[in-house]
Amino acid sequence: MNDRSKKTNQTVTLTDNASGKTYDFPVMSGSVGPDVIDIRTLYADTGYFTYDPGFTSTASCESTITYIDGDEGILLYRGYAIEDLAMHSDYMDVCYLLLFGELPNKEQKAKFEHDVTYHTMLHEQVNQFYRGFRRDSHPMAVMCGVVGALSAFYHDSLDINDPWHRTVASYRMIAKIPTIAAQAYKYALGQPFIYPRNELGYSENFLHMLFATPAEEYKISPTLAKAMDRILILHADHEQNASTSTVRLSGSSGANPFACIAAGIASLWGPAHGGANEAVLNMLDQIGDKKNIPEFVKKAKDKDDPFRLMGFGHRVYKNFDPRARVMQQTCHEVLDELGMTDDPLLELAMELEKIALEDEYFVERKLYPNVDFYSGIIFKAMGIPTSMFTVLFAVARTVGWIAQWNEMVEDPSQKIGRPRQLFTGATRRDYVALGKRK
Ligand code: SDX
Repeated sequence: MNDRSKKTNQTVTLTDNASGKTYDFPVMSGSVGPDVIDIRTLYADTGYFTYDPGFTSTASCESTITYIDGDEGILLYRGYAIEDLAMHSDYMDVCYLLLFGELPNKEQKAKFEHDVTYHTMLHEQVNQFYRGFRRDSHPMAVMCGVVGALSAFYHDSLDINDPWHRTVASYRMIAKIPTIAAQAYKYALGQPFIYPRNELGYSENFLHMLFATPAEEYKISPTLAKAMDRILILHADHEQNASTSTVRLSGSSGANPFACIAAGIASLWGPAHGGANEAVLNMLDQIGDKKNIPEFVKKAKDKDDPFRLMGFGHRVYKNFDPRARVMQQTCHEVLDELGMTDDPLLELAMELEKIALEDEYFVERKLYPNVDFYSGIIFKAMGIPTSMFTVLFAVARTVGWIAQWNEMVEDPSQKIGRPRQLFTGATRRDYVALGKRK
C-alpha cells in the first residue's frame, strides 16, 4: 500500500446467516473514487469466495496512474485531465507523465525524447522475422508475433527484478512499437521497410515509416502529425481495462516485459475492446446509408441478435467518453484539412450517434459513444486501412501497459494473480473402463 491509500477506521460487517457468525472487513480509501472493502482474508476467515465474473465490482490492484469517473465522464492521467493533455501536450510529454508521474521540464523532456529516439531501430534479425508471415496476415497477428519475439533478441533487458533492465525494456518497447507497426503495414503492402529517422518527432516518424517510400520524399502534414499525436495521447492508458489487466496478470508470474506486452496486444485485438475501432468502420460500411440506420438500431436492441452498435457503450463510462468528444473534434479538423468536410462516413456516424442518443434503449442503459466511435473515421481519412486501426491503438497503449507493468512489479503487495472459481461441473465419480462405457 503506498502512502496515498489508507486504512480508514471504518469496517464492513458480513453476517453469515447460515452460521450466525459476523465478520468485519477493513475499508480502504484512495485519493479519489470509491472506497474498497479489503477482502484479502475473506476465504481464510469465512470459507467463502467472492463471485464477480468480468470484475464489475472488483479492484484488482492499487494504482496511481489513471483515474476514471464513469458517471461524470472524467479521465485523468496522473491527475491531469485528458482534454488538457490532448489539447496542450504531446505524446512524449504524456509518455513521460505516465511513466514517471510528473510532466517533464524542458531538460527532462529533451533527454527522454533523445533516449526514446535512439531505441527506435529494430535488431536487423527482427526485420527477417516478418518473412514468416503471409502477406495477407492480419497486422495484429504480426504484432503479437513480432512483439512476443523481442525477448529472443534483447536478452539484456529481461530481468524484471533489475530496475535498469526494466527501464531499458520500457524505453525499447515505447520506441520500437511504431517501427514494428509500420513494418507490419509495409510488409502487407509488399513495400520495403522505411527506417526511423532520428531528426523526426515520434508521431512524424511513425507517419514517415507508414507512408514514405524510397522512391520519393514523403512530405509530412503537420496537421496529420498533430492529429496522430493527439490520438496517441487519447489512447495511451485507461486504468484496469481488459488488455492492461492481461499485461498485469502476465507480469505477475514474472514473465518478461515483451511477452507481457504481446499478451496485452492479443487481448486488445478483441472487437469488444480495441478491435472496436475496426468494427465501427465495418459496421458503418454495413449500414451504408442513413435510411438503413433505424433497421440497425433495431438489431442492436434485439437480444436475439448478436449485432451491437460498435463504438457505443462502456463498462465504466455511463456518460460520454471524454476521449470521444476530443476525437469527434479532431475528426472535423482532419477532414477539413483534407478537404473531406462532406465525408459520407462522418455524416453517417453523426446521424447514427444522434439517433442512438435519443433512443430510450440507449438512454436507459447509459450507452454513449466511446473512444472507438470516431477514431476509425479519422484513420480512414488519413489513408490508414481498417485492418491497421487496432494496431494504432496498440501503439498508443504500449506506454500505458508499460507504466502499469512497472507499477505492478514495484508494488510490495503484489502476488501472482490466481483467481478461484465457482465449480459447477461433475463431482468425483468412479472410473469406467472403455469396454463398459455405453
Ligand atoms: C474499449 O475497459 C476500457 O477501458 C476499454 C477502453 C480502453 O481504453 O481500454 O475504453 C477501450 O474497449 C472501448 C469499448 C469498445 N467496445 C465497443 O465499442 C464494442 C461495443 N460495446 C459493447 O460490446 C459493450 O458496451 C462493452 C463491451 C464495451 C461494455 O460491455 P459491458 O460493460 O459488459 O456492458 P453489458 O454488456 O453488461 O451491457 C449492458 C446493457 C446490456 O443490455 P441488457 O442485458 O441490460 O438489456 O447494454 C447493452 C447490453 O446488451 N449494450 C449494448 C451495447 N453495449 C451494451 N447494446 C447495443 N449496443 C452496444 N454497443
